[in-house]
Amino acid sequence: MADDDMTTSPPLNSELYKQIVAVTGPSGVLTGTDASSRSCDPLCITPTLAGMIVRPADIEQLARVISLCARFNQPMVVQGGRTGVAGGAYSEPDDVVISLERMNKIEDICVASQTAVVQAGVTIEALQNAVQAQGLFYPIDLGSKGTATLGGTIATNAGGNRVIRWGMTRQNILGIEAVLADGTLVSSLGRLLKNNTGYDLKHLFIGSEGTFGVVSRAVVKLVPLPSTHYVAFVSVASFDKVVALLARARRLPILSAFEVMWSDFYSLVAPDALSKGPVAPGQPYYILIEGLGYNETADQMIFNEFLEEALASELMVDAVVAASEKQCQDFWRVREGTEAIVREMSPFIAFDVSVEIPCVEAYLSAVREALCTPYPEARFVTFGHLGDNNIHLGITVGPHTHDVAHHIEQLVYAALPRFGGAITAEHGIGQFKKAFMKEQKSSGEKEVMRRMRAAMDPARLINREVMF
Ligand code: LAC
Ligand code: ZN
Repeated sequence: MADDDMTTSPPLNSELYKQIVAVTGPSGVLTGTDASSRSCDPLCITPTLAGMIVRPADIEQLARVISLCARFNQPMVVQGGRTGVAGGAYSEPDDVVISLERMNKIEDICVASQTAVVQAGVTIEALQNAVQAQGLFYPIDLGSKGTATLGGTIATNAGGNRVIRWGMTRQNILGIEAVLADGTLVSSLGRLLKNNTGYDLKHLFIGSEGTFGVVSRAVVKLVPLPSTHYVAFVSVASFDKVVALLARARRLPILSAFEVMWSDFYSLVAPDALSKGPVAPGQPYYILIEGLGYNETADQMIFNEFLEEALASELMVDAVVAASEKQCQDFWRVREGTEAIVREMSPFIAFDVSVEIPCVEAYLSAVREALCTPYPEARFVTFGHLGDNNIHLGITVGPHTHDVAHHIEQLVYAALPRFGGAITAEHGIGQFKKAFMKEQKSSGEKEVMRRMRAAMDPARLINREVMF
C-alpha cells in the first residue's frame, strides 16, 4: 500500500491487513484507489467506502479470512457481482469487503444427475454457457446475468424472467456450502433431490442476504437444454384481458416467461431497443410470451394454436412471433432495455413489489393517485413478471427525487396491504428497504428472525447494515 493512499483512504487495521495478506497473498487484497474506485451498484455510482477488499482464491482462504476478521471483531460486507439494487453490497469506511470474484470455478457438471458444483463467484451467464455445452440448462435468468454471480443470486434468492416455469433460485439449488461469521465451514453440498435427514440447511442461507454467513459453493439443479424457442410479442387492450391471457398461457407446457410491459414502459424503451417496436404502439399493455421446449413440431403447433385462439377470442390486439433466434433476442432486448429508463428517468426510485394478480391494476391506480397530489410531475415506468405477482415500478418526480425518496416509498408501500402485497418480490431488503420491513412482519416473525441472526452471527459482523 502506498503512503499517499493513507491520506485519502480509511485507516486500515495494519495488523489485520498483514495477517490477511499472509493468507491470500498481496494480489488477494485491494486497498487505496483500487478499492475506492470500485462501485457497489449496477449503475456504478456508489463507491466502495471500505478501505480493503479481500478476494480469497478458495474456500480455505475464505474461511481463514473470515475467522481472522472475527478475531479482530472486524465488520464485513460480502460482494458478488454488485448488481443488486437494494444496497446490499454498500460498505462503510470501517468495513472490510469480502469479494468472491476469484472463487469462480465450475468444479463439476454431472450429466447423469443433472447437477453442477459451482463456486459462488461464477456468473450466471458463465454457468449457463458451461452447462449448455453438456446439453443442460440452468433456468435462472436475469438481465444482469453477465455480471450477477451464483453466490449473490443465492443470498438474495433471485427470481428473474423464468420463475413462472422453474421457480426462484431456492427451487434450483440442491446443496450449499457456507462460512459462518466465526469462520466455521458448513458443508451441505448434497446432490439429492430427496433428503429429509434433519434440517434442510440450504434454505437457511438462500435469501438470507448474507446475514447468516457467506455462501462459498453450491450444487445447482439443472434441466435438459431446451431445443425449441418461441417468443411472441403481443399488445392487449385491458388488464382483464391480460389476466385472461395469462390463465391461457399457463396451460402451455412450454411456457417459460410472461413479461408484461405497460405503455409507459413500451413507449420509452421500444424505440430505443429496436428501431421499430415489435408491435404497433397505442395499447395499454404489451407482453412478451416465451416458450422453451423439446419437440419442434408439437411445440410450434401448441404455441401457434394458443396465439390463434387468443386472437380469435379478442384477448390480443396484435401479435407477432419471432421468426428467428436473432428476433427472439431482439424482442427480449425490448423487455430488458433499461438504458432508456436510466437515461430518461434518472434520478428515479426502483420498486419490485408483489401484489396479488387480480389487484395489480387497482394497486397501481392507488399508487398513482397517492403520488399525483404531492408530486404532480411524477412519472412512472411499469413492467413485471406478472405470473409471479411481481411488478417493477420506476418513479421519478424530478431532480429532487432522492431528497423525497422516503416519502415516495411510504406512498408506494402504504397501498400494499389493501391488495395483499409485499415490499419486495425478488430484489430483497438490503439497506434500502430496512426501514419498511418491520411494518411487514408480524411480531412473532420478527422475533424468530432476530433469534436466528443472533445465533448465527452474534456479534453482527457480516452485512451488519442489511435487512434489519
Ligand atoms: C428486471 C429487474 C429489474 O426484472 O428485476 O428487469
Ligand atoms: Zn425482475
